[in-house]
Amino acid sequence: MSDRRYFIKTTALVSAGLILNGCTDSKTDTSTASTGSATAVSVNKPIVLSTWRFGIQANEAAWKVLSTNGRALDAVEAGVKIPEGDPNERSVGYGGRPDRDGRVTLDACIMDENSNIGSVACLEHIKHPISVARAVMEKTPHVMLVGDGALNFALSHGFEKENLLTEESEKEWKEWLKTSDYKPIANIENHDTIGMIALDTNGNLSGACTTSGMAYKMHGRVGDSPIIGAGLYVDNEIGAATATGHGEEVIRISGCHLVVELMRQGKTPQQACEEAVGRVMKLMKLRNKDPKEIQVGFLALNKNGEYGSYCVQSGFNYAVCDVNGNKLIDAKYFLEVPAEK
Ligand code: GLY
Repeated sequence: MSDRRYFIKTTALVSAGLILNGCTDSKTDTSTASTGSATAVSVNKPIVLSTWRFGIQANEAAWKVLSTNGRALDAVEAGVKIPEGDPNERSVGYGGRPDRDGRVTLDACIMDENSNIGSVACLEHIKHPISVARAVMEKTPHVMLVGDGALNFALSHGFEKENLLTEESEKEWKEWLKTSDYKPIANIENHDTIGMIALDTNGNLSGACTTSGMAYKMHGRVGDSPIIGAGLYVDNEIGAATATGHGEEVIRISGCHLVVELMRQGKTPQQACEEAVGRVMKLMKLRNKDPKEIQVGFLALNKNGEYGSYCVQSGFNYAVCDVNGNKLIDAKYFLEVPAEK
């Protein structure tokens, strides 16, 4: 089906109020992702993808924007704010696990179809770091603010100062202090970041990425999530990618920039994610590190609305929402690791 014909069909569905049902019809699909082929001409839009199980609810919020012909940028911001505001999600925003000093420090970034970028790192006391990142993008001549500078900027732009350390997170942290044993566990403590990428009905791409980072990290530690090119990258001519997992390993290979560049070279989103994970594995080997100790997952989307994902070890899943519904998919992986009991 040609792009134009698809757009007409999509518009008709939106007018009839039917398209909203697409994303709200959540279902679980453990089959592998449909990655399409490099020669495909049809465009699957709008579409939104996000990391992990909490991506299902996040996609629903994003879909409300996309299904009414809204901008991908607005969709990804609205989407990731769902887990950011949920105290039961312990790896993002409010309720996120603190660093070893008991401080909840948040990292986030956002990128639009015109390569506008904004980012905050080590931001405390603000429930929605993604919106602060967007304000950095839209209201400053800079692209990244950190620590107290980011907090002061947020407060001066009307964001409310809040205590983000919930009772449950504080209790767990005090328990952790008894041993202070720092050993991130793949797919658990690092179940992790929400990265979201979307293609809107106008064919424009945007992305957002937000996290509280690794539980009990050193104060001041920053991972991949607020680093444009590492945790997120968007090139409106090619595609978008986001990452989850051990940020240090994603930064080491400039992960999401690499994934987008591989798509530029003609790789499908699936092939690009697989090659990026291959690069992570190669550097682990070079540095005599055991890949079983880490998780890294990439999620990619191209201009045709084709997508793919790949991760180091089993356990990573992602949510995809388009006119066909909103579903959770188990990502393909390099290493099979028995599930935690
Ligand atoms: N991927 C999140 C982090 O490493 O902080």
